[in-house]
Amino acid sequence: MDKIRIIGGTPLVGTIPISGAKNAALPLMAASLLTDDALTLFNLPYLADIVTMANLLAQHGVSLSMHGDGQGNGYGNGRGVSLDASNIHNLTAPYEVVRTMRASVLVLGPLLARFGAARVSLPGGCAIGTRPIDLHLKALEQMGAEIELLDGYINAKVASRLHGADIQFEKVSVGATENILMSACLADGETILRNAAREPEVCDLAYCLQAMGAQIEGIGTNELRIQGVDRLHGCDYSVIADRIEAGSFAAAAAITGGDVELLGVRAELLHSVIEKFNEAGISVTSTERGIRVKRTGDRIQGIDIMTQPYPGFPTDMQAQMMAMLTLAEGASMVTETIFENRYMHVPELTRMGAKIIVHGSSAMIRGVPSLRGAEVMATDLRASVSLVIAALAAEGETVIHRVYHLDRGYERLEEKLAACGANIERIASRQPAKVEAA
Ligand code: EPZ
Repeated sequence: MDKIRIIGGTPLVGTIPISGAKNAALPLMAASLLTDDALTLFNLPYLADIVTMANLLAQHGVSLSMHGDGQGNGYGNGRGVSLDASNIHNLTAPYEVVRTMRASVLVLGPLLARFGAARVSLPGGCAIGTRPIDLHLKALEQMGAEIELLDGYINAKVASRLHGADIQFEKVSVGATENILMSACLADGETILRNAAREPEVCDLAYCLQAMGAQIEGIGTNELRIQGVDRLHGCDYSVIADRIEAGSFAAAAAITGGDVELLGVRAELLHSVIEKFNEAGISVTSTERGIRVKRTGDRIQGIDIMTQPYPGFPTDMQAQMMAMLTLAEGASMVTETIFENRYMHVPELTRMGAKIIVHGSSAMIRGVPSLRGAEVMATDLRASVSLVIAALAAEGETVIHRVYHLDRGYERLEEKLAACGANIERIASRQPAKVEAA
């Protein structure tokens, strides 16, 4: 398993190209199942999860052809891929794939809507929580699906065609909104999704579905209305920039006292995160090419953060902001309201000298004057990058183990950071990376 070695203390200065968003690319790839035309996506990030989704779709019968840099944001190395689902011969998403990537469950809705049947492994829990999919299944049953859970698999079928329904989600769920949105595009009649997720990645999926011929109203609000159509056609679509990658690098620039321009991302994607950076004394300004991040005072100021569904502060930025706040002046309070176990980075940050106490869903961070490098363990995607952020400012050497977690969501991380002056290198190992549920 690869490791990453960082010698901290160098302010990050320069430019970082932001890649296409993983959490937009995954549902967009799954949307290819909705049509027998080719769906061409541009600005795809090259990540482990994207490869996993490509392999999953291929075993269903989707043919994929990769090609060079598409119409991405022009700054990253976004790749283009054409997905052709005109010859689907397998409706099963197997456990060995689903257990490595929960987003695999996003093939359930499209397979059911287009073929009337699907057999998808239950994803099981992961490091950050139990992450059930009851909201997905309940909504599909409201649309006429018969769902049976057998031998760890979801066996779903519909006698003729899914029909529209008025669906009220008990809680905001990105994945459930995406699965049902895709199903509703081919259902018979109107579907209303109430308390729908409004994340930019959900909107990206909706805009692409519209370009494929879907009839969707209310994009960007928490109420979506979809008029089902008989078929969708293909289209070309460029994946939105990754706001979480951008926020992660912004936290790295802030903690090192650097000055970095993040290319290809728009400030409005990060409104609630930028508000918190400003509160902490970090200047974030829009430029022609993206956003510029630099610290204003000589120390970061302690702040309070509570994660919420969009447009609130994103849970996927919680670990990264906590890492930055370990060196703040004064105390900070972080409250995680989305997942029940998203503090796996705390013991690792503590090994580096951070002062953090967790009480239930809240963590109190007391700022310390400095961190010290240590051997630490990555446990999940965003916890991993929070260790990188801390290591970039820590005194001395940090070695981060199990960096395959990082590779799931950050494209060319070492390269992008080294280009801004970070002393960072990957230490390749001979053993194959262990695949863990996530
Ligand atoms: C998506 O996961 C993202 N993943 C996550 O990013 C992100 O943290 C999460 O949304 C919240 O923003 C992708 O888009 C691939 P949810 P998802 O359904 O869809 C509960 C990352 O780091 N819930 O919005 O799985 C669930 O347990 C990853 O990039 C149910 O109870 O998240 C959680 O507490 C991590 N029943 C809450 O809702 C359900 O049927 C939000 O989950 C579904 C969800």
